Amino acid sequence: MCGIVGYTGTNQAAPILLDGLGKLEYRGYDSAGIAIRNGEELAEVVKSTGKLRSLIEKTDSGRTLAGTCGIGHTRWATHGEPSQTNAHPHVSGNCSGSGSGQVESEVVGVHNGIIENYLELKEKLLRHGYQFYSDTDTEVVVKLIDYYYKKYKIGPVDAINRTLVRVRGTYALALMFRDYPGEIYAARKDAPMIIGITNGESYLASDVPALLNYTRNVYYIDNMQIARLLPGEVHFFDLNGDEVSLESTEITWDAKSAEKNGFEHFMIKEIYEQPDAVRDTLTSLIVDGRISLKDTGLDEDVLKSVSSFRIVACGSAWHVGMAAQYILEDMTGVPVRVELASEYRYRKILPQERELLIVISQSGETADSLAALRKAKDLGVRTLAVVNVVGSTIAREADHVLYTHAGPEIAVATTKAYSSQLIAMYCLAIQTAYDLGRIDDEKYAYYLSELNTIPEKIVRILEEKERIQWFAAKYSNARDIFYIGRGLDYAISLEGSLKAKEISYVHSEAYAAGELKHGTISLIEENVLVIGVLTQDDLFEKTVSNMVECKARGAYLMALTTYGNYNAEDSASFTVYVPKTDPHFMASLAVVPLQLLGYYIGVARGLDVDKPRNLAKSVTVE
Ligand code: G6P
Repeated sequence: MCGIVGYTGTNQAAPILLDGLGKLEYRGYDSAGIAIRNGEELAEVVKSTGKLRSLIEKTDSGRTLAGTCGIGHTRWATHGEPSQTNAHPHVSGNCSGSGSGQVESEVVGVHNGIIENYLELKEKLLRHGYQFYSDTDTEVVVKLIDYYYKKYKIGPVDAINRTLVRVRGTYALALMFRDYPGEIYAARKDAPMIIGITNGESYLASDVPALLNYTRNVYYIDNMQIARLLPGEVHFFDLNGDEVSLESTEITWDAKSAEKNGFEHFMIKEIYEQPDAVRDTLTSLIVDGRISLKDTGLDEDVLKSVSSFRIVACGSAWHVGMAAQYILEDMTGVPVRVELASEYRYRKILPQERELLIVISQSGETADSLAALRKAKDLGVRTLAVVNVVGSTIAREADHVLYTHAGPEIAVATTKAYSSQLIAMYCLAIQTAYDLGRIDDEKYAYYLSELNTIPEKIVRILEEKERIQWFAAKYSNARDIFYIGRGLDYAISLEGSLKAKEISYVHSEAYAAGELKHGTISLIEENVLVIGVLTQDDLFEKTVSNMVECKARGAYLMALTTYGNYNAEDSASFTVYVPKTDPHFMASLAVVPLQLLGYYIGVARGLDVDKPRNLAKSVTVE
């Protein structure tokens, strides 16, 4: 979704802002813009539609814009079509055209999120003589700040505060005021915003990768707080306008991990980073041969007392929940329910006593997952967040946090975060089972030793990528792909199918193999590709029967199974093998060929797999 950057310091701002926006491209966007202040002069606004490249060309990589203070934005359209006029920054001055150039304005701003009551506020402002050039809610909020600023003749912090209490919705805002050269003001509610400070320079961004080239010393601004950035310093204020102090945090991710490092796309680089992401997550959770959940605050008493687990998440994180359901229930005997966060948040919930609600989220900022977390907390339910981004909103608001160690994930389609989330859920299941006395020391040690083999087994799978690449090229024009499996294999199918459809735009579905006969089999015809996921030996024959039924109706069959199950080739025309591990952990291995398949189909179709159309990495609006 929208990306925000800001800079004030001693260097030319525009190249720094364009670099930062480049690091946020992965979030998904349709237009971009920057506003630069050169000393006391009015802000110069430049915007363009399409890729950031056109903004870079328009400004000669920022060189045409003098000034050491500025804000920038990549827009993912919500209110109003993608266009230059609707692109940010927006200005408070009444103007015709697209609000570009040097517009006579008190306030210039960029925004991520949605202002729900913008129409009502717009009417009020129209009555007070404001004119609007765009269809955006952002222009409304910028003009509302201007209105309070002038009406009450107050400073920026008070004008923003008055506005925050009038607007409903979610937002991160970065603003510059004409009377305050060299200063940037920022505020947020339920949308990410971080601030980095170094010697004489201050940076602002909606996401960590934009800052990694400049600083590791960051502040996470809280909801309904305001930040005032000056070169090399920052001050924070609460809703009363009183100054508050915040602690800074050191980011451990290194800048290289957010670069492609010679890979063609971030997605394939991140697929290759999975052995490390899995190993790092394991290392963080297994200390001296025991799982340590100490940092999460989930001790033996808490785990033993859990009456039921409820997992809520979106997208691939929900698929992790689907896989975890089979594992947690099987190992612990405690009931598990998995829900889409967008569904959970709007229905009547009857929480169980001593229920543990687990929110799984890479970004820790997904709007629906955050809303679900807050709802659970309002209901008095204990909450655990499984999150990758340190300091993200979900991580800060949950009662307990279990961090995955995937490093920065840039490609929209998740791979290494998914794999790390699985590891976190395995460890939770094993430890709970042990604390409940459902497994003995021997079984416990066996599970941990199996987990430790996963990174090396992923390496082996990656060594055979050429076969999948070949197969993907052959099937890149497939009209439909069906992924089928039972039990855990169904959960793996869900993720495999999403990987294909989100980056290659080939229609794909995942079905519980036993459901095929209840409708889906009518879609099976000549040359439809059916992929049978066969990692669970006890369900192998059942799923193979379903595959054969598809073959009888003309489908082309691919099987994904473990070494040793060579009779899969009796039915399937193409078989992919992965090493064996304990059946509970097979998703960690079987997902890798499916990630590669989705990736290579997308590449064979000539698509930009890192930035699939209409999708965003972090969905911060519902
Ligand atoms: C988007 C991403 C997915 C991700 C989902 C949930 O749709 O493209 O890869 O699984 O959001 O994101 P989260 O950050 O909450 O894991």
